[in-house]
Amino acid sequence: MPQIRCALIGYGAWGQHHARAIASIEGASLTAIAARSPESVAKARADHAEAHIYADYREMLAEEELNLCDVVLPSDLHFPVARDVLESGRHLLLEKPMALTLDHCAQLIQLAKARSRILAIGHELRLSSLWGKVKELIDSGAIGEPLYALIELWRRPYRQGSGGWRYDINRVGNWILEEPIHFFDLARWYFSSAGEPISVYATANSKQPDHPELHDNFSAILKFPRGRYAVISQTLAAWEHHQTAKITGATGALWASWSGAMDRTFEPTFSLKFQRADQVEEISIAKPSGEVYELVDQIAAVVRAVRDGTPVPCTGRDGWWSTAMCLKAADSLATGQPVPFEEP
Ligand SMILES: NC(=O)c1ccc[n+]([C@@H]2O[C@H](COP(=O)([O-])OP(=O)(O)OC[C@H]3O[C@@H](n4cnc5c(N)ncnc54)[C@H](OP(=O)(O)O)[C@@H]3O)[C@@H](O)[C@H]2O)c1
Repeated sequence: MPQIRCALIGYGAWGQHHARAIASIEGASLTAIAARSPESVAKARADHAEAHIYADYREMLAEEELNLCDVVLPSDLHFPVARDVLESGRHLLLEKPMALTLDHCAQLIQLAKARSRILAIGHELRLSSLWGKVKELIDSGAIGEPLYALIELWRRPYRQGSGGWRYDINRVGNWILEEPIHFFDLARWYFSSAGEPISVYATANSKQPDHPELHDNFSAILKFPRGRYAVISQTLAAWEHHQTAKITGATGALWASWSGAMDRTFEPTFSLKFQRADQVEEISIAKPSGEVYELVDQIAAVVRAVRDGTPVPCTGRDGWWSTAMCLKAADSLATGQPVPFEEP
């Protein structure tokens, strides 16, 4: 099997998991890592002797023979670095959020198309044995036409991130683009039979007097055609990491839940219940569910896409939509009104 030569740009908290995931995939090699500070460069070198380590990603793009670049940087750097990767002729896996503006998302889609390069976005929950089973059951008609979803997260506060980027509104964009973006993506995925979302109406508040723009509590109603809707809700003012998705359809209902000490745990607990005709049954989930597991499957799928031309789990268009749902929700917070969507 030909090896897909992969490079990683960004060796922070999540980038280190990407590196481990790439290194574990058959048919892929972790050829190079671009970090930044001397500390991150030294850590990447100590952890991955198999890879060439750079302190400047542009030098890496110029020097290395690469098929796929994986970008795991603070969100304000996604657009400029993703553009450089695509312009260098490499396929791209880009972490969420795809970019901080819809114009930048559209530019990346255009660039990937013009260069015939793969553009995949990091919504790894689509690869989950749990959240993916929910999708499979909905698509098989197990609950009839889906009518309502509540996707909810209860978790501890966000980490600062390198240089505090996650608490700087100019660098993070907003906090809806951090975690709720995954739930908007799941809702659109689960309701795909209804068509694209129509509008979003959001409310939020902050417990931080110095940072009212960084919302600890956030909820939104996402409307779909034919009266279908999803509620997305998150609090960061709690502890651990507990996520649920409750979905009702015309003939049945699903209740999925996932819990861990933190999002990146290797020891989660999770369950899926399915109700039809007054019977409730537990659906067994064979494989562990959790973002550290899904990350490996996500990168493996993108590696296959590069090698065999198979579809990626989450496209640039999907990334445009997940970013749009978050940015329009932020507009709704600002205006106090529901905000409609315009198709890309
Ligand atoms: N899909 C998911 O579930 C998920 C989960 C977590 C995070 N993410 C996303 O992943 C991205 C990174 O998050 P994180 O938590 O890993 O952040 P982080 O811990 O702050 O790491 C960011 C890293 O980027 C490095 N960096 C900054 N500028 C660079 C440059 N020009 N070249 C190379 N490296 C550079 C920083 O280097 P230094 O260490 O040298 O400062 C830091 O190591 C964010 O967009 C976040 O939204 C996604």
